[in-house]
Amino acid sequence: MPRRPSPDLETYSARRSRLADSLRDENAVLVLYGGELRTRSNDTEFRFRPDSDFHYMTGLEEPGALALLLPGAQPGEPPRFVAFVRPRDPAAEVWSGRRVGPQGAIEQFGADEAYAIDELATRLPELIDGYDTVYLPIGRWPALDTALATAIHSLRRRNREGCSPPRRLGEVGDLIGEDRLHKDAAALASLRRAIELSAAAHIAAMRATRAGMWEYEIEALIEYEFRRQGSSGPGYGSIVGTGDNATILHYVDNRDQLREGEVLLVDAGAEWDYFSGDITRSWPVSGRFSAEQRAVYEVVLAANVAGIAAAEVGGSIDAIHETCLKVLCEGIAELGLIDAKPDAILEQRLYRRFYMHRTSHWLGVDVHDVGRYTLGGDPRPFAPGQVLTVEPGLYISASDESVAEGFRGIGVRIEDDVLITAAGPEVLSAKAPKAADEVEALVRGG
Ligand code: GLY
Ligand code: MN
Ligand code: MN
Repeated sequence: MPRRPSPDLETYSARRSRLADSLRDENAVLVLYGGELRTRSNDTEFRFRPDSDFHYMTGLEEPGALALLLPGAQPGEPPRFVAFVRPRDPAAEVWSGRRVGPQGAIEQFGADEAYAIDELATRLPELIDGYDTVYLPIGRWPALDTALATAIHSLRRRNREGCSPPRRLGEVGDLIGEDRLHKDAAALASLRRAIELSAAAHIAAMRATRAGMWEYEIEALIEYEFRRQGSSGPGYGSIVGTGDNATILHYVDNRDQLREGEVLLVDAGAEWDYFSGDITRSWPVSGRFSAEQRAVYEVVLAANVAGIAAAEVGGSIDAIHETCLKVLCEGIAELGLIDAKPDAILEQRLYRRFYMHRTSHWLGVDVHDVGRYTLGGDPRPFAPGQVLTVEPGLYISASDESVAEGFRGIGVRIEDDVLITAAGPEVLSAKAPKAADEVEALVRGG
């Protein structure tokens, strides 16, 4: 079966074309590497996932592949896409799967030229000869750093033959990061699908939750929902923490038992075409929050709603954080978690005992996606087409004896994924219920 990139060739070609002017103006080439299989143990490997920038620009999914983008001569001309991939090898393919091969890279992925990766050392010098700058993800792939340094060195040694090695290496991060930050139609479609599957899985998990189950059962159910609908799986390690475990921000052990009276926190997102959803919901194991749990929940929900309202063109991630902090600090004072006025809790940053992370991050191919957070030292103003999370929380450790007993061992985070549009924030994760009554009803109703 031939492999077709998803979404389609035009999307990847348009992404490459958007870099054309920058590359031509700087007489620069761009080199990306798809990465390698990584050993899991002895002779077994983790399932391969290509480098995010590499896949975003090429659609290629194989290990051991490399792409060069070389500027066209004329303005408006798309960059020349040269691919290096593993050569076809029927014997090896019987064991470890089909390969696209150089011919396939041209026919199925739109490469202008393609070679076997074994030819990289001989071909790379001539390909980069005469360009001023080589953009690459510096330090991300030691094999790529070495291949380029070796190619540049070999050109330098041949300068009497008229070779002209690039003088500069440029970090590719901003160049592709800025493009990834502004979602194109295909990126947005993939994200919508990833988030839709994520929301459906959260609903399924709420419905299934019962005291006595184990965190890994909820994890398995969520990931089954992702996979059965064609997702490649979770976009990051699913966090399923009950009771005090929910106060550990990146709790991924997921091997404790759900007890009556606890709040369960689930932070899980499906990956679809290499774009990740990122949703957190928190619900009572028994289907009914205690008074203290509900009070904490309502504070976090109010912060989430206020934060989302601030996700407008011209707003910023810092402004969302400040909006959420204000609501959280008022709640912390009102609940008596800290005996101080909201202003003091905010200004002296006393809230950090219960809220120790920031509120938002860009979302896209990577769950913590690329793209600059500041411009010229200032918080970056939102523009249409950007997608970010809004994820306030309150985390009260079971061992915190400074708060009333009923508040101990509660972790609540409510995380949504939001698209910036000219008409205001669009909550892409809106299908995942978050009103306390609705969440309770789902758990109780099955
Ligand atoms: N799931 C990681 C995060 O929410 O940032
Ligand atoms: Mn997040
Ligand atoms: Mn999350």
